[in-house]
Amino acid sequence: MRIAMIGAGNVGSALARAWSSAGHQIVFAVPDAFDSKYARLLADTGAIAIRTVPAAVADADVIALAVPWDAVPAVIEACGDLSGKIILDVTNPLVMGADGLELAIGFTTSGAEEVARMAPAARVFKSMNQVGFEVMDKASGYAVPPVMFVAGDETAGKARIIELVSSIGFEAIDAGPLRQARLLEAMAMLWIDQATRRGMPLTHAFALLKRNPDDDR
Ligand SMILES: NC(=O)c1ccc[n+]([C@@H]2O[C@H](COP(=O)([O-])OP(=O)(O)OC[C@H]3O[C@@H](n4cnc5c(N)ncnc54)[C@H](OP(=O)(O)O)[C@@H]3O)[C@@H](O)[C@H]2O)c1
Repeated sequence: MRIAMIGAGNVGSALARAWSSAGHQIVFAVPDAFDSKYARLLADTGAIAIRTVPAAVADADVIALAVPWDAVPAVIEACGDLSGKIILDVTNPLVMGADGLELAIGFTTSGAEEVARMAPAARVFKSMNQVGFEVMDKASGYAVPPVMFVAGDETAGKARIIELVSSIGFEAIDAGPLRQARLLEAMAMLWIDQATRRGMPLTHAFALLKRNPDDDR
């Protein structure tokens, strides 16, 4: 698939590396492609180009949002016509609270639902937000594949996102409609809390285990 990766920070770079290795084509969009900090971006990630936001999204199969939450409205605006486009929202709507990072919204909406409100003609999905970037390009290195939930309302687009998530070593699980992003963003907060306050390594990830009840007999 051809993926427009909006944002080339920790997450955008890790996902670009992972998806390039899995055979996908990545086109980055950043605020200033000539900034020297992006000089090695293509060599480091395997991406094929750096473009403006509208140029990157124009021929993309999937648009990945990997920017800070407060940059999302400007990025959606810059995309232009998003009719029928698949957006993978990787962002987490975080703010700095009295006790550290916390979710800015939740319970009655989610970042992904707000993205869908900003881009009503697009098909919006939430995924890849539930682990730190250190896990994203190394998911195949775990004894059990890390789980990665996918929320979204539309069947064909969800199948493509599940394919993308699976292609880099995660166990992709359908979490249901987009409103379930409220749970997935809280799950990201749990990962962050474990890593930043509970001593869990930045490489930790969640896995889904199932027991066969027949084995109990
Ligand atoms: N860090 C994690 O482990 C992690 C895990 C899961 C989800 N997330 C979420 O993923 C998102 C990105 O996190 P990150 O850690 O990758 O952040 P980051 O390292 O700060 O990178 C953010 C990127 O977004 C770019 N950007 C900002 N405004 C932009 C605009 N208007 N148009 C195009 N690009 C723009 C920045 O470009 P410039 O630097 O040139 O401004 C930078 O390349 C956040 O929403 C975060 O909550 C993070």
